[in-house]
Amino acid sequence: MAGNAIGLGNFVRFPTQVAQNGGGAFMVPYFVALFFLGIPVMWIEWVAGRYGGKYGHGTLGPTYYLMARESLKPRSALWFGVIAGMLAFSLTVLLNSYYLHLIGWSAAYSWFSITGAYFGQNTGEFFSNYLSNYGQVFLFWGITVILLAIAVGQGVSKGIERWVKVIMPLLYVFAILMVGYIFVLGSPVDPNWSTIDGFKFIWSPNWSYLGDHLWEVMLAATGQIFFTLSLGMGIIQNYASYLGPKDDVALSGIATVSLNEFAEVVLGGSIAIPLATAYAPKIVPPEILAKGKSEALSWIGHEFGLGFSYTSLPNVFVSMGDAGRIFGALWFLLLWFAGFTSAIAMYNYLTALLEEDLNIKRSTGTWLVLLLYLVMGLPVVYISGYMDQVDAWVNFQLTLLALFDIIIAVYLFKPDNFWKELHEGAWMTVPSWYKPIILYIAPILLLVPMIGMFKSLVGSTLEWPARIAIIVMLVIGAVESYYSIKKKYAKELEKNEVIIRV
Ligand code: PHE
Ligand code: NA
Repeated sequence: MAGNAIGLGNFVRFPTQVAQNGGGAFMVPYFVALFFLGIPVMWIEWVAGRYGGKYGHGTLGPTYYLMARESLKPRSALWFGVIAGMLAFSLTVLLNSYYLHLIGWSAAYSWFSITGAYFGQNTGEFFSNYLSNYGQVFLFWGITVILLAIAVGQGVSKGIERWVKVIMPLLYVFAILMVGYIFVLGSPVDPNWSTIDGFKFIWSPNWSYLGDHLWEVMLAATGQIFFTLSLGMGIIQNYASYLGPKDDVALSGIATVSLNEFAEVVLGGSIAIPLATAYAPKIVPPEILAKGKSEALSWIGHEFGLGFSYTSLPNVFVSMGDAGRIFGALWFLLLWFAGFTSAIAMYNYLTALLEEDLNIKRSTGTWLVLLLYLVMGLPVVYISGYMDQVDAWVNFQLTLLALFDIIIAVYLFKPDNFWKELHEGAWMTVPSWYKPIILYIAPILLLVPMIGMFKSLVGSTLEWPARIAIIVMLVIGAVESYYSIKKKYAKELEKNEVIIRV
């Protein structure tokens, strides 16, 4: 579960969001969103997943059908199952089809760092040359996806768990080494610019900025919590479905959150921003540098982002000389590790779906999924703008699925059942004041990212390739879920009587 949650979001997206949203101003709503939205939804998804697993389901359609059936007649519950299954299927296809390409870029850049390929070049040009060299793009994508297919094909405990148990400790070691280096780095290029400025930027609460940009910062913070904890995708449920009916979910949910937050706030927060600050004179244009520190930092903030990782940070590595080759390779390998263990969860969702609903063996299914990702990854590479458009939709859809999490797994399943399930076999007692947080505060807080993501979706124009991909995946997801529920629960759907659980 930690491998699932810890991803590119921790090391790239988090520093980006912090930097763009006034540094210290961001951290307050961030922790609010963590406690009042992140933790509740995490528990809901763990509970739902283990519940589905009891009945042999690892996908959302049948699982949410069963939960909704606690208060609805089977034929009405069917529709809730279909909606949840549809959203989860299309998300695991659409999001991963570009996430896999981002991971492929990291593999490539790890190689380019160690070989010094971009040293002495314009890193912006180097990056766009890389992206238009399709052979290279598919080479590194291919290496990544084939390794994924092998890991998933070996099974959940013999494959996924074994791979993740090696990768995650390595990830922590790499990150800790890098953070250690940053702590002793000081002011490598200019006595006026040190890594400490970066830490100050993140850790001094900036109330006036927060006051002036409240909605914007809250939106960024709730969105980040969502993304970083892998919520609203169906993949936390999928992993939890492999638990036994009495395995703890309460403390394990908290453990997942804690491991992710350590990797995000402590490790992710101590690499990119302090590094970019210390090397500001090398990457910030002189006219902006002249305006002073806070201007330069906010410029860094707005330049930060995915592109930043591949264009500006390489300049930092170049300035480090030979040490930069190793540091750069470590950084991109870290991203690759982080991304790999998140992608594996989405990959497994689809493999489990083929296994469960079409009786396709895991070892075969994994290659079919690879084929699907190959096809769905083509527009990512060949159609410019496609990735951002799908991303705008996907971000909204994540919040939509989380809304259905709450509606189905708490309200339709009935809050008392939910609370009982949460404590079944639990290694901790959740304080009872958390119940109203889950029931009322979390759904209200969820409206912030929902409205925000919807607004930015409306603001972005979806062109036909993106529209077709989204619609086709939603339709396939709906039809698939419909038939899988129908097939498994034909009898009770026929009778259509409320089922009373004893
Ligand atoms: N949680 C992952 C990260 O931080 C991203 C992710 C989101 C992965 C949704 C899977 C599903 O990068
Ligand atoms: Na994360």
